[in-house]
Amino acid sequence: MTYLFKKAAVAMAASCALFLAACGGGEEENGGSGSEDKKVLNVGTEATFAPFEFMDKGELSGFDVDLLNAAAEEAGYEVDIKNTGWDAMLAGLQSGQLDIGMSGITITDERKETYDFSVPYFESVTMIAYKEGASIASAEDLKGKKVGVQNATTGQFAAESIIGKNDSSISKYKSAALMFQALQSGDVEAVVTDIAVAVEYAKSNPDAGVETITDEQFVPEYYGIAFPKGSEYKAEFDKALNTLYENGTYAEIYEKWFEEAPDMETLKQAAQ
Ligand code: ARG
Repeated sequence: MTYLFKKAAVAMAASCALFLAACGGGEEENGGSGSEDKKVLNVGTEATFAPFEFMDKGELSGFDVDLLNAAAEEAGYEVDIKNTGWDAMLAGLQSGQLDIGMSGITITDERKETYDFSVPYFESVTMIAYKEGASIASAEDLKGKKVGVQNATTGQFAAESIIGKNDSSISKYKSAALMFQALQSGDVEAVVTDIAVAVEYAKSNPDAGVETITDEQFVPEYYGIAFPKGSEYKAEFDKALNTLYENGTYAEIYEKWFEEAPDMETLKQAAQ
């Protein structure tokens, strides 16, 4: 090989590397559909909500992150997920600055007036987490206690339905992390949040002395991917999710995070 030819080859290799890096593709083993011209959707989340979304060594991680990546891949999009925080995510969906909210967001009738939701992708229920020794045996026992919730979540709505709206015994925190910190520091005696998150917190903080209970008056709720009202993407992501339900990818992701098989029947029923 001549010197000039070698030089050219090296330059070509370098520009190919650059080109590939610029395209950012290739992290998904099954790619193959040429990621160059995929549209990038802006996604907001509140990433202190393990196991759904949390920061792991500076990287967004969790069940929601895996599921959204898989759904986007299936639908032919790239997603740029930013840890916007909860309130900014909701505002960004309303203003249309965000294309998607993926944050363990419960589908509620009230929210449906403001956002569109995908088919349900996870069944949840409200759970109370409290410090050992706080005498809480049922939801009613929240009355008269200092209770923490994440602002504008179904945990807040559940606490309010028992204690009363705008009651000063309810403290509202901007993130799930701040809510759990308040429990830890003793600022509140109990927090009201989602079952998998409460269980995860108790499990990963074994020394925190946190107990969890649920209550019959809490009814099942379902998470959905949120979109601005009238979004063109809803139908495509519904289709993608249904494919992931059918082809086993959803079950794979579910088992990775929850170490058991998902109840597909319940999800299908909830979609009716
Ligand atoms: N599922 C609850 C709701 O929709 C709580 C979600 C909170 N999510 C979060 N990433 N902090 O209101």
